[in-house]
Amino acid sequence: MINRDGYTISLWQQHISAFPLSSTRHEQVYDIIIVGGGITGVTTALLLQEAGFKCLLLEAANLGYGTTGGTTAHLNTLLDVSYETIEKNFGLPAARSIAKASANAIAFIEKMTQEYSIDCGFNTADAYQYAQNKEQDEALDREATAATNAGLDVSRVATLPLPISCISAIQVKGQAKFSPLPYLYELAKAFENIGGVILENTRVTKIEHKGKVEITAGEQTFTGRKLVLATHIPPGINLLHLRCIPYRSYALAARLAQNDYPQDLYYDMEEPFHYIRSQEVDGQQYLIVGGEDHKTGHHENTTLCFRQLEAWVHKHFKVEEITQRWSSQFYEPVDGLPYIGQLPGEEEDVYVATGFSGNGMIYGTIAALLLRDMLLGVPNELEMILDPNRLKPIAGFSNFISHNADVAMQFVGKLIPAASLHLLADLAPGEGRVITYESEKMAVYKDETGELHSVSPVCTHLKCDVNWNSGERSWDCPCHGARYSPDGQVLNCPATMALQALHVAATVK
Ligand code: FES
Repeated sequence: MINRDGYTISLWQQHISAFPLSSTRHEQVYDIIIVGGGITGVTTALLLQEAGFKCLLLEAANLGYGTTGGTTAHLNTLLDVSYETIEKNFGLPAARSIAKASANAIAFIEKMTQEYSIDCGFNTADAYQYAQNKEQDEALDREATAATNAGLDVSRVATLPLPISCISAIQVKGQAKFSPLPYLYELAKAFENIGGVILENTRVTKIEHKGKVEITAGEQTFTGRKLVLATHIPPGINLLHLRCIPYRSYALAARLAQNDYPQDLYYDMEEPFHYIRSQEVDGQQYLIVGGEDHKTGHHENTTLCFRQLEAWVHKHFKVEEITQRWSSQFYEPVDGLPYIGQLPGEEEDVYVATGFSGNGMIYGTIAALLLRDMLLGVPNELEMILDPNRLKPIAGFSNFISHNADVAMQFVGKLIPAASLHLLADLAPGEGRVITYESEKMAVYKDETGELHSVSPVCTHLKCDVNWNSGERSWDCPCHGARYSPDGQVLNCPATMALQALHVAATVK
């Protein structure tokens, strides 16, 4: 089992040990520094090291700590954002390029599993999307046409090989599935084997440009000619934070009473939709179902999201045991496609990859291939389509930055009289709550021993107030998705600083 960015543990994280780092020595100067130890960062690092660059990969926690460890790992060309939307926003040639790039990403992953003999259960599969009412049927019809026009191999089918009824469905060939962390680890090992350096538990705290890029991580500094931010969402303050909306998605793994695991990939058309597949892990088959998505920081009782997902699974499958429940974060780009390329508003030596929707395995791989081409100067048709600078300057952004900037609280040393403790009286161990006392807010967490931990709820990114996430026992920011542990330490970008600790004590007078 490895550490992750929340209280729950995914199926993949449960079944793997810490990555056995072999980088025992590191230097201070590199050609390219890559930040982020998920599929985007590790694949990019390997490809760039293979291309002859001297690369350093920095990870704030451990490889597979974030969404690569929390994905359900569908390898699909039938993406979360419909081809109808992609075509409408970017045109048919762009939709075709995305369909082709998605298929290439699956082929690339398969090639890597063969080249490095990776035991990650990679298997090809079909995808099925199905409609259960007239409105969904009409939308499915439009998507079937748009996906076919984009180049996908789509056919209509009358029934599903699944115990779920529908009124229409499409089948799409050329999909796949795998276990993401064994794949990630083998790519990381391959990177180290050709001289790449990985440093875990190394959080970047400052990025400066002094002719080259200078990175500060705690007490250490590193210099690179180029920097790739593969951190899911870039740290610091950037226009992309206004163009990517953070969501949480919920997943569970289950053993079924009979050995009738669905072997393909399935998507209903509910809002939010459910996604279904299976995977063998350590000799045991698991049904893996996801759904119940909502904007980050917008649901406090996220335990309810797990219960609703569980109820849905029990309704459709004969479940013997739910073995894991976990949630994970993704970023929805406002126009439907990710942002991969030079980071807007920065020097030309900083690259970014973000806004993958729920297709992180595919877009993470696409990002690595595209970034490699860009850094080698090789033309790539995706460069223009996915250019993060396709953004127009947004009116009012500077106002947004200063929004709430004057509300940072100074609350150190505050004493709460016993008479006011009713605010926290019903807080159970393991629960957190934002309370207001004397018109100032505190984010208070009661640990399993009953001890209270208090932090300022003001997010250190751009000063929105965080909310409690009961399922993951974290403080989640509804604005750009930064997340913090119960005691305020950073779990997710874009924040780089912990929530301000408040030393609050109860007093009886
Ligand atoms: Fe931007 Fe919290 S993540 S204000």
